Amino acid sequence: DDVVTRMKNVEMIELGKHRIKPWYFAPYPQELVGLKCIYICEFCLKYRKSRKCLERHLKKCKLKHPPGNEIYRKAGISVFEIDGRKNKQYAQNLCLLAKLFLDHKTLYYDTDPFLFYVMTQFDNRGFHLVGYFSKEKESSEDYNVACILTLPPYQRKGFGKLLIEFSYELSKFEGKLGSPEKPLSDLGLLSYRSFWSHTILNILFTQKPTADNDRAQVTINEICEMTSMKKEDVISTLQTLGVISYYKGGFVIVLTKEMMKNHEKASRAMKIDSKCLHWTPKD
Ligand code: COA
Ligand code: NA
Repeated sequence: DDVVTRMKNVEMIELGKHRIKPWYFAPYPQELVGLKCIYICEFCLKYRKSRKCLERHLKKCKLKHPPGNEIYRKAGISVFEIDGRKNKQYAQNLCLLAKLFLDHKTLYYDTDPFLFYVMTQFDNRGFHLVGYFSKEKESSEDYNVACILTLPPYQRKGFGKLLIEFSYELSKFEGKLGSPEKPLSDLGLLSYRSFWSHTILNILFTQKPTADNDRAQVTINEICEMTSMKKEDVISTLQTLGVISYYKGGFVIVLTKEMMKNHEKASRAMKIDSKCLHWTPKD
């Protein structure tokens, strides 16, 4: 395949108050990629060749938030649902922007089959793009996330796990189990592993032993029901954690005090409050 087109081609982007160095190739128009910087409207994601052109655009652009419906708001964090068919230009611009940080070859120009869940952080200048995930409207494989991205200035602050948590909240509302589309990137896998471990340990450490049994009882199927995680992801997480043992002819989960301490230390600062999600699945 064509190696040249896959080389990183954009030197810098300006998005709101951020200047961001791209990681990978993205097919922005040829006349823009030679420039020192591409100027992107942080609200509608249209791109311009200079700050002057962007300023001209900003005088006309009335958006202070992503298009679509705001389906979640709590503590300055909002999530907007955008239909890739109804807001095609925004969705395409979002995919183009995301491609700068995604290593895979394909870019989906056909955004019609996808919904986009865009997370923002609010201040007096508007709702600023933090990250997003896309989701197929119809998934034969029960994928609840296609692509997921936290913009670099917001990375490693817990937003990735917050987006992942949100994707499972949607699956809970749908009454379905879900899993991210494979293959995941290295960073994607790290984030999912972290979220899955944290979620499962949370359940295991809060199960109370019953009167007639000194061991807390919870089955893998129950963990799936509580979390909307697929069984294979629950099992692989338990295996990665190294907590599955064989005991008296059956499998048991053995947790240590050390794990409990580490789990408490790693408590997540930001959490999705499902009471603040105003959404019904479309059919
Ligand atoms: N190096 C090592 N660990 C990293 C890391 C890095 N660069 N970035 C994230 N992690 C770990 C964090 O330490 C955290 O684990 P912990 O809770 O055990 O500490 C976990 O991954 C999630 O961190 P979080 O802050 O919630 O995630 P994020 O906001 O940084 O977003 C991604 C994670 C994957 C969305 C982000 O890295 C990204 O957008 N990457 C580019 C796009 C991509 O690869 N998407 C996935 C494939 S579709
Ligand atoms: Na983050």
